[in-house]
Amino acid sequence: MRIVDLFCGIGGVAEASRDLADAVCVDSRLDALPKILPEVVAAIDIDRRIVPVYVANHRVEPLIQTIESIRQVPEADLWWLSPPCQPYTRRGKGKAEGDSRSVALARVIELIDQQRPWGIALENVPEFSGSQQHKVLEGKLRRAGYSVRADELCPTQWKVPMRRKRFYLRALRDGQSIPSVPLESPARPLSECVDDSSWDDPSLRVPSELVTRYEQAMNVVDADDPEAVTACFTSAYGSSPVHAGSYLRCSRRHLIRRFSPEEIGRLMGYREGFWWPGEVDARARYQLLGNALSVTVVRALLVTMVTATETQWKFEQ
Ligand SMILES: C[S@@+](CC[C@H](N)C(=O)[O-])C[C@H]1O[C@@H](n2cnc3c(N)ncnc32)[C@H](O)[C@@H]1O
Repeated sequence: MRIVDLFCGIGGVAEASRDLADAVCVDSRLDALPKILPEVVAAIDIDRRIVPVYVANHRVEPLIQTIESIRQVPEADLWWLSPPCQPYTRRGKGKAEGDSRSVALARVIELIDQQRPWGIALENVPEFSGSQQHKVLEGKLRRAGYSVRADELCPTQWKVPMRRKRFYLRALRDGQSIPSVPLESPARPLSECVDDSSWDDPSLRVPSELVTRYEQAMNVVDADDPEAVTACFTSAYGSSPVHAGSYLRCSRRHLIRRFSPEEIGRLMGYREGFWWPGEVDARARYQLLGNALSVTVVRALLVTMVTATETQWKFEQ
């Protein structure tokens, strides 16, 4: 199943596709896993910083271009869309279609009738639900004969110790039924996502003056607490001490520190070998991860899209 990754960032959907392919190779007895594999064949974004990350990890060179300027979406079975969320958030002033950052999604919506991809998936903040653009998108899809399913999902439903509640829409051409998302997964305590060696990294320490000043507002979790769940990490993590993600406390060491980009990547579901090229500094890594997708959730959604493809393609043969 060929996927085009629109608003690709560091490629959460490419990461989830690879993860799924690896799982199938390791254990082909897993009947629940699909036989047709998803694969990202093209990716587009405007942020040049993502190019070395995307190429190193997904072996596809993303096009750096505004999506509102594309004449056609590259040929693929599934369009994955993660448009900017600022038009729908309070922080981004929630101006929705009055915000110039919503123009790119409007362009993709325009192209649906002309190109009629087999499937479309969209991820955004929960506030996207019920917005004018959501209504326009869903109305257009239904009129064009797509079945549509919308869900609000959070990695905690897969027992991941991190909150990141997001709105996900899936649409399939010709009214095909869209399965619900499989939730089963083994629990992973926070301690498994934390590197012991990071306690010695001075760049991750939070100065005690900052802790004293913001203690009440900072979200701090205990590294050894088996029930600990972090807040959602945003692109402001590292520059804003509050409302941008959680901090880690080690009572033995009397220390509070930031999560490293690698630890956040682990919570987001990125594989151990996910590679950050040297030219992408720590600040950029936090920003890119703050905009990124939960690979755990995307993987589960992809399983449903691929399973529906298998059923349909078998039926057509
Ligand atoms: C929510 S993030 C997407 C994250 C991505 N899917 C991932 O897995 O990391 C939105 C992305 O849209 C890009 N973007 C914003 N406006 C754009 C536009 N007009 N055209 C193309 N890309 C745009 C941003 O650079 C950012 O990477």
